[in-house]
Amino acid sequence: MRIPVIAGNWKMYKTIREAVDLVKGIQYALPFPGEAEVVVGPPFSALLPVIDACRDSYIGVAAQNMHWEDEGAFTGEVSGAFLKDMGCEYVIIGHSERRQYFAETDDAVNRKVASAMKHGLIPIVCIGETLSERENEKTFEVIERQLGGGLPALDPEDAKKLIVAYEPVWAIGTGKTATPDQAEEVHAFIREFLSNLFDANTADSIRILYGGSVKPDNAADLLCLPNIDGALVGGASLKVDSFAGIIGAARLGG
Ligand code: PGA
Repeated sequence: MRIPVIAGNWKMYKTIREAVDLVKGIQYALPFPGEAEVVVGPPFSALLPVIDACRDSYIGVAAQNMHWEDEGAFTGEVSGAFLKDMGCEYVIIGHSERRQYFAETDDAVNRKVASAMKHGLIPIVCIGETLSERENEKTFEVIERQLGGGLPALDPEDAKKLIVAYEPVWAIGTGKTATPDQAEEVHAFIREFLSNLFDANTADSIRILYGGSVKPDNAADLLCLPNIDGALVGGASLKVDSFAGIIGAARLGG
């Protein structure tokens, strides 16, 4: 039984005050999350205030990136050790915007995932094809390359904690969502790949989230599918009503 995860990726939005107001708003609007594991991902500047505001609540907090080294001369970077020190529990790794704008490679993702695990952070590893890759029927090849390159060797107990987010790049922030059939096809492929990489039992425990223009009105149709175990939500996670609506859909569907 996989508990569905609804994770909000706030990207580079929200001042400290706005961020704290948003998590308090979610808690007020939805005192109990039902079946879902709820995670929010504020920018680094608001992480600690949001962690403080979420203490004793059901909401977990994710960073949006990390460095793989514990410390060192890496100007502008934040390590997994520091995230853990802050009380962070999750970390988004390899988001397509980091791959696209900050040249993040599968090798960097691999090191970050290994470091996150070492520090007891749950990595949310993002993968997904671009529009031209899909049009050229390269989707499965891209998924294989990103998972094969991005996941380090892990013992099964650690591997079970992994969260994978399938986010077709053409669906992110565009209002275009993969159809339930398109999404389920790739999710099933990812689970099969994880089963070969680890083992069937481990793959069965790993949550695979869908991301890309998830909204309250399309969430239920995606979240009810057998291999879709939650959502990574960008735009719709920035408002209480829409995020709470998606969490509600996980309760019904997941
Ligand atoms: P979106 O973003 O929901 O705004 O499409 C998803 C993401 O980038 O994680």
